[in-house]
Amino acid sequence: MSYSLNGKIVLVTGAASGIGASVVKFLLHENVQRIAMLDVSEEAGKALQNELNSKYNNNKVIFVKCDVADKENLLQAYKVINDEIGYIDLVINNAGILGDSPNSYMTEININLEDALKLRSAKLPYPKN
Ligand SMILES: NC(=O)c1ccc[n+]([C@@H]2O[C@H](COP(=O)([O-])OP(=O)(O)OC[C@H]3O[C@@H](n4cnc5c(N)ncnc54)[C@H](O)[C@@H]3O)[C@@H](O)[C@H]2O)c1
Repeated sequence: MSYSLNGKIVLVTGAASGIGASVVKFLLHENVQRIAMLDVSEEAGKALQNELNSKYNNNKVIFVKCDVADKENLLQAYKVINDEIGYIDLVINNAGILGDSPNSYMTEININLEDALKLRSAKLPYPKN
């Protein structure tokens, strides 16, 4: 089954750098309508937003600073996206950290796993059709 990304509205977490930033560029290449980029790194996120909006058009990409491990923060980000865009077709839950110190495991679980559950439970508006 083929799935066209053409015209879709996509939310990408951890979008300011690394794999997330590459995914955002790929999505633009696939002609999505708009992308909401979430990331804790405001400087990198804004820089990428500005770069891509200059290349494509001014409204194509919206960056929202957000720690996806923090539910309140996530809900605030959703409100911004809802006000600006209205709905989301597709969520790419990429934000995460990787470390192997004993103290980092709980933080990793919170960011890498729990944020995915929070994203599912936060009830972003989806398109009606
Ligand atoms: N690169 C690899 O080889 C590899 C291997 C296995 C899994 N992964 C996973 O793939 C994902 C992306 O990896 P990457 O190599 O691009 O990592 P990266 O560190 O280069 O980028 C991760 C991005 O997520 C953001 N981020 C981190 N914590 C966040 C949070 N709480 N809220 C919002 N944004 C947050 C960072 O600011 C950064 O922009 C991660 O989940 C990582 O664990 C990567």
